[in-house]
Amino acid sequence: MADPPASSRDLTAGISARSLSSGATLLGRVGDKEVVLARAGDRFFAFGAHCTHYHGPLAEGLIVGDTIRCPWHHACFRLDTGEVVRAPALDPIPCWRVERQGDMVFVREKIESKSRPAASDSRQHPSSIVIVGGGAAGLSAANTLRAEGYEGPVTMISADHDPPVDRPNLSKDFLAGEAQDDWLPLWPSDLYAERHVKLVLNANVSSIDTTARTVSLENGSHREYGALLIATGADPVRLPIPGATDKHVHYLRSWADSRAIIERAKGASRVVVVGASFIGLEVAASLRTRDIAVDVVAPDHLPLERIMGAELGRFVKSIHESHGVVFHLGETVKSVSGRTVTLSGGSTLDADLLVIGVGVKPSVALAERAGLAMDRGILVNEFLETSAPGVFAAGDTARWPDPHTGDRIRVEHFVVAERMGRVAARNMLGRRERFDAVPYFWSQHYDVTIRYVGHAEKWDRVQVDGSLDARDASVSFMRGGQRLACATVSRDRENLQAEVELEGALAHR
Ligand SMILES: Cc1cc2nc3c(=O)[nH]c(=O)nc-3n(C[C@H](O)[C@H](O)[C@H](O)COP(=O)(O)OP(=O)(O)OC[C@H]3O[C@@H](n4cnc5c(N)ncnc54)[C@H](O)[C@@H]3O)c2cc1C
Ligand code: FES
Repeated sequence: MADPPASSRDLTAGISARSLSSGATLLGRVGDKEVVLARAGDRFFAFGAHCTHYHGPLAEGLIVGDTIRCPWHHACFRLDTGEVVRAPALDPIPCWRVERQGDMVFVREKIESKSRPAASDSRQHPSSIVIVGGGAAGLSAANTLRAEGYEGPVTMISADHDPPVDRPNLSKDFLAGEAQDDWLPLWPSDLYAERHVKLVLNANVSSIDTTARTVSLENGSHREYGALLIATGADPVRLPIPGATDKHVHYLRSWADSRAIIERAKGASRVVVVGASFIGLEVAASLRTRDIAVDVVAPDHLPLERIMGAELGRFVKSIHESHGVVFHLGETVKSVSGRTVTLSGGSTLDADLLVIGVGVKPSVALAERAGLAMDRGILVNEFLETSAPGVFAAGDTARWPDPHTGDRIRVEHFVVAERMGRVAARNMLGRRERFDAVPYFWSQHYDVTIRYVGHAEKWDRVQVDGSLDARDASVSFMRGGQRLACATVSRDRENLQAEVELEGALAHR
């Protein structure tokens, strides 16, 4: 008799242990729940089949030691407790008890999640914690503080109008009209009160007194802190274009920005995207989904070439062209007059609006004014501490000593920001944990997702395995014979394996 389809396999009925090799996973069911049975060495674990970030398929993930890593954005969970070890997931996965009888393995009842005791010595905890910034790093820090048992007051102050949201979605499904509003918030609105995190929105912190340990807000109020996290992110680079008014020009950083573009796009038939950056191109893809004609104007020879090399640049360009995007490369926008956009080469384009995506700069004015050590971003040590005692920085704004490259680096990746927020929070509680994550980001263009792990600012060789045209490839960025980074298309597990390999390279150094 043929085996039942994997997801309908009843894991409570028992599986032969020999049928599952170490590192293998099996998708099945317990009652009406999809559950994965996994083997790590001689031990067996059963856990929920879907990642708590975006429901990634954990059966297709990678077992590493006592953890499972999600194939989509590399969240990592403990196999025995389901606890989150690494962002971008914020919530644990459910687990089931597994029993072995001879050669048979049975999945039994669900393990009730226990509220964990404080994991760190509360005598080392600061009296209060203030987080400046309501983004990925800030929210992840707040989430971690409560998950680690911190009981003191936590205040998050954000210049945004909205609570922390899934910023990457703003240029993707949300802008394309394919995500509901309730996909966006990183925490449901009632969780702030439930976890006693005071969220102050529409509020700009104007100064920090690192001696008195206070922050001042633009509205004249002050707050004391025992420990402070600066997670102010980055701001879009503004491009002065003669003739362009605020009515024409849009930038994209916040949920409000994305909603404003959607509103303007409703009556639009043509859009000019300035900049062939990740955000510019994702905006182009989302607007094409809305059937709006898109011209992309950028000074580069190929999109994304500086970050991902010529091969991937050509690939991304061809995907967009096959969806009707017209590129004007080697050009800039000279001026705008009404609906007419004049390019540096003299040609003109029609546009109802322009979306400018020409990169971001770290939001550092506050830290500079506070006299913190800077280096094209806020300088932090391996524990994410700034030059002022009790002040940490995380996310797009922070430059840290990366043990993998040996350089001080600053990146603009969502997963990295969340991971930094988590490590900074643990270190505020006295953990002294080094931040040594291998950077990871992804970018989505229509139905193609590129996953990139590692960090390569310069390379001497690019090695393509497979075929980008067939949308099945991994691209390695090499320097001196060593792989620095790896980008994959349709090879999610390989991307996870590259992450483990890059981590291993550090362990052997
Ligand atoms: C449209 C878009 C798409 C993206 N797509 C991807 C992707 O696909 N993959 C990926 O890896 N990354 C992506 N990113 C990048 C990713 O979102 C960022 O790396 C991440 O959000 C950085 O988190 P952060 O916490 O450092 O900063 P942010 O999330 O930007 O948060 C910064 C916060 O600080 C606040 N703030 C700043 N100054 C002050 C002040 N003085 N007082 C009070 N509050 C202040 C801001 O209001 C904001 O709330 C995307 C970014 C955007 C904008
Ligand atoms: S869906 Fe698992 S990390 Fe995003």
